[in-house]
Amino acid sequence: MELLVHIRRDKTYQTYEVKAKVNTLLELLELIKEQDPTLSFRQMCRSGICGTCGVMLNSKPVLACKASLLGLGQELTIDPLPGFPHIKDLIVDSKRAYAQLKFPPKEGQSPTKAHECIRCGICDSVCPLLNVSPFAGPMLFVRLIALCKESKPDSSMHVELCTHCMACSRLCPNEVMPESIISQFSPKSFSFDFLSGL
Ligand code: SF4
Ligand code: SF4
Ligand code: FES
Repeated sequence: MELLVHIRRDKTYQTYEVKAKVNTLLELLELIKEQDPTLSFRQMCRSGICGTCGVMLNSKPVLACKASLLGLGQELTIDPLPGFPHIKDLIVDSKRAYAQLKFPPKEGQSPTKAHECIRCGICDSVCPLLNVSPFAGPMLFVRLIALCKESKPDSSMHVELCTHCMACSRLCPNEVMPESIISQFSPKSFSFDFLSGL
């Protein structure tokens, strides 16, 4: 299979022609890196566990190691995850949210799927509030609950700003459902009954 791959590198895209049979985006990136060792991206576990390989594939956030290229055609565009400080090529600082958790974890496991969060940052990258409001971002609220089910966000996290748009829950690769976790702290501020009366 011959692929034309456009990869965002700093302010421009670099295009690579790749002739090879690959199944996942990570395999493709590794092949390209053999052609061009200057290309930078992150990966560790290769199996959807470490959360380091999040990128945008044709404008959709994915884990590169889990993203199949089947049916995507012969031209692909790859960008770094938006919404985070950019480091280099496909690498962003998606872990910066943890600096905001200033308290130590307590005992007790959450009944939600929060403990299955791999901290990939995909939910934050699709949240329309990140970087345009003081909202702390879905990944941080998931982490808060994963550390202790009794934890509560402090006012600086502005959980009340969540629009419940569901983008984070739809795109989380582990079906952690950040929006439902956030709803425990900040229920939807309107009801469909109210809307139907308009
Ligand atoms: S909640 Fe899902 S999308 Fe968000 S960081 Fe965790 S695993 Fe990634
Ligand atoms: S549901 Fe809330 S946290 Fe999730 S993407 Fe929408 S605004 Fe962000
Ligand atoms: S390399 Fe670990 S999640 Fe993809």
